[in-house]
Parts: sequence; C-alpha cells; structure tokens
Amino acid sequence: MSNESNYAIELNGISKVFGNVVANDNINLNIKYGEILALLGENGSGKTTLMNMLAGIYYPDAGSISIAGNEAAIGSPKDAIDYGIGMIHQHFKLVEIFNAMDNIVLGTDGRYEKPKLLKDKILNISNKFGLEIEPEKKIYNMSVSEKQTVEIMKVLYRGAKILILDEPTAVLTPQETEKLFTILRKMKEQGSAIIIITHKLHEVLNISDRVAILRKGKLVDTVETKKTNENKLTELMVGRPVSLKIKRPETTNNKTVLNVVELSVENVDGTLAIKDVNFKLKSGEILGVAGIAGSGQKELCEAIAGLVKIKSGAVLCHKENIIGKTPDEIIKLGISMSFVPEDRLGMGLVGSMGMVENIMLKSYKNNKGLFIDKKPAKKLSEQLVEKLDIVTQNIYTPVRMMSGGNVQKVLLGREIESNPNVLITAYPVRGLDINSSYVIYDLLNEQKKKDVAILFIGEDLDVLLELSDRIMVLCHGKVQGIVDAKTTTKEEIGLMMTGMNLTGGGHNE
Ligand SMILES: Nc1ncnc2c1ncn2[C@@H]1O[C@H](COP(=O)(O)OP(=O)(O)OP(=O)(O)O)[C@@H](O)[C@H]1O
Ligand SMILES: [Mg+2]
Repeated sequence: MSNESNYAIELNGISKVFGNVVANDNINLNIKYGEILALLGENGSGKTTLMNMLAGIYYPDAGSISIAGNEAAIGSPKDAIDYGIGMIHQHFKLVEIFNAMDNIVLGTDGRYEKPKLLKDKILNISNKFGLEIEPEKKIYNMSVSEKQTVEIMKVLYRGAKILILDEPTAVLTPQETEKLFTILRKMKEQGSAIIIITHKLHEVLNISDRVAILRKGKLVDTVETKKTNENKLTELMVGRPVSLKIKRPETTNNKTVLNVVELSVENVDGTLAIKDVNFKLKSGEILGVAGIAGSGQKELCEAIAGLVKIKSGAVLCHKENIIGKTPDEIIKLGISMSFVPEDRLGMGLVGSMGMVENIMLKSYKNNKGLFIDKKPAKKLSEQLVEKLDIVTQNIYTPVRMMSGGNVQKVLLGREIESNPNVLITAYPVRGLDINSSYVIYDLLNEQKKKDVAILFIGEDLDVLLELSDRIMVLCHGKVQGIVDAKTTTKEEIGLMMTGMNLTGGGHNE
C-alpha cells in the first residue's frame, strides 16, 4: 500500500491545546522521503509538541496524520515505531547500566538473538550509515554524543524510515555536530525523511532542504533553504526584524573582585581536572571562557561555587579566601552561579514545582520566619515572565511542563535577580532561540553596566568574541592564555583551544 512517491508525512489541520495554551494551531505540513526538514521557532512555539504527536506521546485534539499516504492513528510510541517513525528526544531515554547493544534491542525480539549475530547486525547498520558505536560499552561510560549515536542506532535497528531529532546538537561540540550531520546526509541518500529541530541558524542552513517556521503554535511559512538566510529566518520566526548584533558597553569602574590563584581540582580518579589556573575577574567586565567540552569549565565553576573540594590554590573574593566555605556562605558573599547542564532540569530547578517555588528556593531560603512570605517571589516571577518573555500557563505551572528554553530563562533570571557581585554563567543560551539568546546577552550587559563581574562560559566563538571584554582559553584544564576579545580572532582562539597557539602560553593576568 505504501507508495514511495507519496509524502512520508502529511499533517492536516493538526491542533493541540494544553489548558489555555494553544501549543499547535491548525498545522498543515508535508515532508517527503529523501528530504531533511528543519523545524524552526522560538521557545514555546510548539515544535516539540508537534513532533511528540508523530512519536505517539500526545494525541492531536484535531486534524489528521498520514504516513506514506495512509491515514495513521498514532496512539503510543509503539504505534509510532510500527509506522516507521523514530524520535530522538531532548532528554535521552537510555538505561544507563545497560550496554549499547542491550539498549538497542530493548523491547524487540532482538533480545533473544545470539549475541554474535546481533552484534554483526548492529555493526552492519553502523557501517551503512557511518555510525561509530561500541556495542558492549555501558551507557554510563559514554559521552553525550556517544549516547545520541546509540539512540539513533536504536531507531535504525527498528527500521525507521522517518527520523525526528529534537535539538540534537544543543549539547554537541561543532565536531560532533558535523559527524551527526554526515549520518543524517547518508540516511537522506538512502531515502529517509528527516525532521530536525535546532535553534542554530547556521546549522539549519547547512543541513536542511526546507525550513518550516512556527510562531506561537501556528505554521508561518515553509521556505527552501537555498532561498533564505539568517536574517530572513529570524524575521519569520519572531515576526519582526531582529538585529543580530551584540553590544559591548564600555565600563570604567574595573576593580579586581575575584582573584583565582594557582587553583587545581582533582577528578575522582586522581588526575587533575584543572591545573594551576590563574586569573583575575574585574567588576564591570565580562571574561569569556572558551574551550572544547570537558576542558575544565565545569570544575572551575564548581570550585568557585564551593561545590567541589579543591586540591590546592586560592579563590579570593575581595581578598577573602573562599576556599573551604560552604556554597551558602559563598552565595552570601554575592557570588552567584547559573550552570545550564546537558540535562536542563538536572541542576538548579525542581521540575515538579512552579516558578514561584523555584525562586523561593534560592532567594528566600534564609528567611527565618515560620511563615514564608510568597509575595516577593510571586512579584519577581511576574516580572521575569514580562521581562524575559517567558511562555508559561501561569507562574505556578510546574517548570517541567514549560518548554526547554523557557525553563532556562527562569534559571538565569533567578540568578540575576539575586543582585550578585560576581555572576558565573555557563552555557546560558543552550537551547534558547535566537531572540531569547539576544535577550540574555543584553541582560548580561546590563549586569556588567551595574559593575557585576561576569564569568561567561560559552560555546559559540562568535558570541564569545562579540560579548566578552577578555577571553580566557582553557585546554586540558590549563589556562592556555587570556586575550583581548577586541583584537583577537576566531582562528587564534580555535588554535588555543586545541593547545596549538603560536603566541606561546598567552599573557595571564
Ligand atoms: N505537557 C504539557 N502541559 C502543559 N503545557 C505544555 C505541555 N507541553 C508543552 N506545553 C506548552 O506548549 C507550548 C509549546 O511547547 P513546546 O515544548 O512544544 O515548545 P518548543 O517549540 O519545543 O520550545 P523549545 O524551543 O523551548 O523547546 C509551551 O507554551 C509549553 O509550555
Ligand atoms: Mg522543544
């Protein structure tokens, strides 16, 4: 019955409502076999919801779906698999204590296959599509990128011809992203239909054939990738032209607030995660931190926030050594940290609680009274919703029901509103749409103008160069150099990140 000349997917008048939020509003969209479609839209515009209906997680309130020319009723994830649809979610769904192979066959007849045969079968698929996979490696020993490869293999093993990826690149390095794209191109060549969600416009332009743009639950347009550009796409997404330029305000009151001296932190296996790190962070400056993933960024943040034991060295905040102080004592000194981890709900927010409670967790936990006054947190939540354009049913909706990007705005908004002297922020725009990313850059600049000392751990070199005053490059836990962001180049930073800078060690101050 299925006919290759038909569309892989036809969505006709699809709508989905949650309470008073119309997440998807009468969406008509078709995707062909052998095509890569990028799904673009601001945070909360309904991308994940739409895809979840194809994956059998939600059922549409109205409209119909056809797969390969036949009307389909996708009532469960199992149904989706039977229709040949596989989805890679924002949060992985692997069993950590199992190895790759066990995860791949979980819930299929492959479980009963002889291990040798099964392994061959998996290696066959991986050769065909260029996946790098170690069938016997345990998931808990894998990097994010390796886990993602297992998820893709799981889908391919089940014979999916339609692959949906929800922000697969949000936590990948540029090199890992390129590897993923190579796999996707191979799948496309073999006739698969692929839908990818990403907020990174250069990726949209690089990988897709067509782009579908959602705004506030409605499909605004679909355009051919060849015929569009970053500015046009942003305008379609936001509904008005948006300047993609970051300001770098000048400040004058630059005094050392944080002085990190010979700081070393050990990994659990006794090797050094950061080695003899030296730098000074000044009021009214943004010190960018660049480095490939796992170069010590996380440990540096954790050490300053008092979350890990340090091996040697000192962190002086206004001349007071904060090493040995508890995280609470460090927060009281005005050092505030927001770290957006790979799993956004993994750190800092409680998913089952609403914005108000999450804000109270931080700002008002030192409240001594028996009756905690909710009013300030309520007021602040309302302000944040307004200021950061947070899309949520209301300020009491559990944050796990909010879209990924909106959760992040809550996370950073809460830190900024605690009026810190030092703001350490790691990957604050991970998963954020373009417009929200620029809102966050503006927020950081506002803090800078208020003389806050900002340590900004970033991934996007273009952003680091535009936003920072100075950039510190980490490589294998060492400071490779600290350079002036106004005069350095992307190439120089790139070389330093791999430990190959020609300037020789850089000029640490
Ligand atoms: N289970 C749910 N219950 C209530 N509201 C929901 C639920 N899932 C999604 N929503 C709401 O529907 C809207 C669309 O959310 P969705 O997750 O589809 O957005 P998105 O485009 O994927 O955003 P992001 O780019 O941030 O991931 C949001 O306002 C969100 O809060
Ligand atoms: Mg989403």
